[in-house]
Amino acid sequence: MLSLRRYAVYLGLAICFLLGTLNYFREPLLFRAPFKQQRPLQQPAVDNDQPTAISTDFSDPNFRWDQVPVRYPVKDLAALPTQAPKRLPKVQHDFKPETEQQSSTRKTRLNAVKGTFTRCWSSYRKLAWLKDELAPLSGGFRDGFGGWAANLVDNLDNLWIMGMREEFEEAVQAVEKIDLTQCTLEQINVFETTIRHLGGLLSAYDLSGDERLLMKAKEVGSMLIVAFDTPNRMPITRWLWKQALEGPQVADDTVLVAEIGSLSMEFTRLSMLTGDPKWYDAVERIVKILDKQQGKTLLPGMFPVTVNAKTADFTHDTMFTLSAMSDSLYEYFPKMHALLGGVDPRYKKLYDGSTATAIEYNLWRPMTPDNADILISGEVRSHGNFVPPTLDPQGQHLVCFAGGMFALGGQLFNIPAHVEIGKKLVDGCIWTYKNMPLGIMPEVFRMLPCESRLECAWNETAWKAAVKAEQHALTEDDTEDVDAIIATQRLPKGFTNLQDRRYILRPEAIESVFLLYRMTGEQYLQEAAWEMFTAITNATETLLANAALSDVSFSPEQMRVEERVVQMDSMESFWMAETLKYFYLVFSEQEVVSLDEWVFNTEAHPFRRRTPEEKYAWVHG
Ligand SMILES: *[C@@H]1O[C@H](CO)[C@@H](O)[C@H](O)[C@H]1NC(C)=O
Ligand SMILES: *[C@@H]1O[C@H](CO)[C@@H](O)[C@H](O)[C@H]1NC(C)=O
Repeated sequence: MLSLRRYAVYLGLAICFLLGTLNYFREPLLFRAPFKQQRPLQQPAVDNDQPTAISTDFSDPNFRWDQVPVRYPVKDLAALPTQAPKRLPKVQHDFKPETEQQSSTRKTRLNAVKGTFTRCWSSYRKLAWLKDELAPLSGGFRDGFGGWAANLVDNLDNLWIMGMREEFEEAVQAVEKIDLTQCTLEQINVFETTIRHLGGLLSAYDLSGDERLLMKAKEVGSMLIVAFDTPNRMPITRWLWKQALEGPQVADDTVLVAEIGSLSMEFTRLSMLTGDPKWYDAVERIVKILDKQQGKTLLPGMFPVTVNAKTADFTHDTMFTLSAMSDSLYEYFPKMHALLGGVDPRYKKLYDGSTATAIEYNLWRPMTPDNADILISGEVRSHGNFVPPTLDPQGQHLVCFAGGMFALGGQLFNIPAHVEIGKKLVDGCIWTYKNMPLGIMPEVFRMLPCESRLECAWNETAWKAAVKAEQHALTEDDTEDVDAIIATQRLPKGFTNLQDRRYILRPEAIESVFLLYRMTGEQYLQEAAWEMFTAITNATETLLANAALSDVSFSPEQMRVEERVVQMDSMESFWMAETLKYFYLVFSEQEVVSLDEWVFNTEAHPFRRRTPEEKYAWVHG
């Protein structure tokens, strides 16, 4: 789901530069070790009896990621918990049978979503097959995730869920040919590769039982775990994979907390399915740190946006948010609890502590012309005990995942108040969609926070004053005529600033609408989903597929005139993998990927949960 990309480009560049500099001063090491077939797990790297140079030439047909020697072997591998899974509270609503009218409306909508998916898939297949993403205006492609067919891997589960079995078979055959020894990037984003490639393969395997997918998942896992081969076994999140074979590596001192903290579901599931604990062990080390340091940060309960992986100190930075760069860290706490069948109490503690803090400091109620009772999650700065934390009343499309997270946590841990909070957050996202001229929420915006979350009356004077203040603070512009500012900025009532006007085909709003719908059965959520779907497809459809938008503050009429300018030649892989999956599932029958049997990773890939009914223990039979 991640936004991290944009926010992290600068950080990435900085890290690149630092690593490049370090490397410049380092003697190139010729690391000696033979490749042996069937090398046992975690065998020490060097075998001096047969000194042959390790091949860093990836075109060498003998190269295999699972045979890369380990420099910092693990002494005691952590094992998966062995307790029988608990019976957790029911997540899904007890749905009543639908009327004929409801059923026919629902099926019409379901078909419309599938139509959009099929159209995008055929264009991808025809024009960008095996590439990471289709460019939806030009018909070109992008290879921003390594050139390992990201969009294809990301949609295996969709092909299965939507019953497209021929396309599924064709895609699985293509997966086998993905070459993990070739990469279009010098630096691999370990997190993005984990949630998309590893997550996509595991999910498609969980759904279909097709062994070819588990084989490929193991291969991806074997590559990714090399990024953990550092002295403290903390992963390198922006990973220069070629250098990993040339010499020792250390974890970075500044990494995004989401990128290190949300690898847990995928690595855990891989261990559950293979019976090999090494992947679980890799993420277990990170969970231990989170568990130990949760109370020691500058906003106890939550973790800062950046942490130090080199020293394993997660307490120093001052920015705390559920939004970009942190998001899935928090999302994975209740989801890990569900995945493991509730046997590891640390995830409840991590969830309880972080949500209590977020409720106190991050959630805010915006002032709206209709006095809507909604919540939004913003960003908080905290410098520790003696200075009160400060809130930036910002909203992001990305943080819409939080509504679903609170609702899911509320169901799993039996905290009805959290389901209520989740509902207000979801309603906040629906409100923001409805009140933008195009019917689509922008990437980033600001509104005026109410003084109280309990009641809040619209005050037009206060709103205009806030618009003016914000405008003056941000630009040199000191126009006195606030109505002119509102007109030129195309600010709908309630919004004080549209900091990033794009819509890049993001899933988080429909994700939370879907989750809450499956949990509460409330009909207005399906209606809201349909309104979102028509607004989005109306504005984003191109001759080939769907395109990101540069500005959602135009009206549909203006949009028609500006179309060539507003649509951008980009279709993120998460459009089909996540956005269309959640739209599909909100209109499918409730048993399809039931939340009582499945839990979604942050790229919308469902993994099978451990439940008392599970037919296999840890290893898929
Ligand atoms: C509305 O806001 C203005 C400016 O902040 C303030 O002076 C005024 O008292 C407010 N009106 C009401 C009814 O609260
Ligand atoms: C989308 O387009 C259809 C057909 O042109 C129209 O009926 C519908 O009102 C539009 N929906 C939105 C939300 O703009």
